[in-house]
Amino acid sequence: MSKVVVIGCGHVGLITAAGFAEIGHEVVGVDNDPQRLEVLRAGAPPFYEPGLSELLTRHHGGLLTFEDDPRVALQGADAAFICVNTPPRSDGRLSLAFVEQATRTVAEAASGPIVIVEKSTVPANTARRVMDVLKEMGRYPDIEVASNPEFLREGTAVQDTLEPDRIVVGLANGGRARKVLEELYAPIVDRTGCPVIFTDLDTAEVTKHACNSFLAMKISYINAVAALCERLGADVEVVARGMGMDPRIGPQFLKAGIGYGGFCFPKDVSGFLTQARDAGVDFELLGEVRKINAGQRERLLGKVRQAVWNLEGKRVAVWGLAFKPGTDDLREAPSLEVIPAMQREGASVRAHDPAVDASAAGAFPGVEICEDPLTAVEGADVLVVLTDWPEFESVDLGAVRGAMRRPVIVDGRNVWPVETVADHGFTYLSFGRPDVVAGEIRRP
Ligand code: UGA
Repeated sequence: MSKVVVIGCGHVGLITAAGFAEIGHEVVGVDNDPQRLEVLRAGAPPFYEPGLSELLTRHHGGLLTFEDDPRVALQGADAAFICVNTPPRSDGRLSLAFVEQATRTVAEAASGPIVIVEKSTVPANTARRVMDVLKEMGRYPDIEVASNPEFLREGTAVQDTLEPDRIVVGLANGGRARKVLEELYAPIVDRTGCPVIFTDLDTAEVTKHACNSFLAMKISYINAVAALCERLGADVEVVARGMGMDPRIGPQFLKAGIGYGGFCFPKDVSGFLTQARDAGVDFELLGEVRKINAGQRERLLGKVRQAVWNLEGKRVAVWGLAFKPGTDDLREAPSLEVIPAMQREGASVRAHDPAVDASAAGAFPGVEICEDPLTAVEGADVLVVLTDWPEFESVDLGAVRGAMRRPVIVDGRNVWPVETVADHGFTYLSFGRPDVVAGEIRRP
């Protein structure tokens, strides 16, 4: 059993902490937000993530404790995982002030040798800067540095942590960091056979950004193909299926729609692109990825206008506020852009999201948040779908039609087969598929 300290109990930090406790390590979570600490000490998750609540209930107060004083937390610890926020700056770079702060905190508070493990998503060369800080403080190589990028997805984060498809560890030459990390991950590696890549610090950091940017590129690629399909009378769902069966391409992240959101892809694509520009490397491909993604919001609004003509005085029902299903996270969610745009054009909006309740009303001024999807569509002129929650697919479309003033759906996530919606007599506009007008499928 090792002792791990996790600095920063946000999404990545808390799930990392709970995951290490679940595989038998002693874990202390450190956070500087007293309110969050209070919630965590009571064993409650401060955000929605499937499976997290069970882990906290099982381990809080036992293998997993929470502390505001890093000095106490770091007593006898083998590793300190830095899981602080790296928010985007207005120039596209990531702000690393919290990473530096956390490094200094560990260097000041740790009495013995320890490994600082960088888990926050950071641009390449950050670990070098962390090492510079340690050298300046006279703590290197007594304190070593490792990079261990996180690949967990919100909504499946617990499973991604306990059953990862790979573990990447970047190390400086020599030292005992490798042994510490090997021992920490041994229970997972022994149980799942998950491959571990040991490499240098810069390579580990680039791997993380390269993964997220590639996935974002896949989404923008299929969205550009979808736009073309609409013009040429093809069906992007079938195109994506045909593409995905090629093992060199793979079926995932080829779902066309309103585009990616969330706290990671937008900031990581911009961060990687800016780093490439700073390094004098032409990686404008990522600029296009970003441009296509931003355009998807506009394309959706265009479809809403196409469907209802003027938004002035119209009642819009929105299904899905979170940036993706399985989470209540609204950061960079398309809903935050699309809803105010429709309101500016004079629409009134009622919304429903299975994970977002009225307490989020502050993020959506003027929007009535409904507990039930059918209440949201009552008297609506158009239903706009922004998140592909699986429960939407099995909703009784007859009941939806009965509740609406006009049977019109604009689907930003291609939730239903076109034929199904056509059978219910809707006008249905989605992405990369034929339009349905009053129940009739139309090809260009
Ligand atoms: C993403 C990565 O998938 C994780 O591997 C990574 O660890 C994480 O960022 C991170 O850096 O912390 P996450 O932001 O939770 O995870 O969300 P994803 O499941 O990747 O979805 C991102 C966005 O892409 C969502 O808005 C989703 O709706 C959209 N998306 C996804 C599509 O529009 N089409 C697709 O085919 C797939």
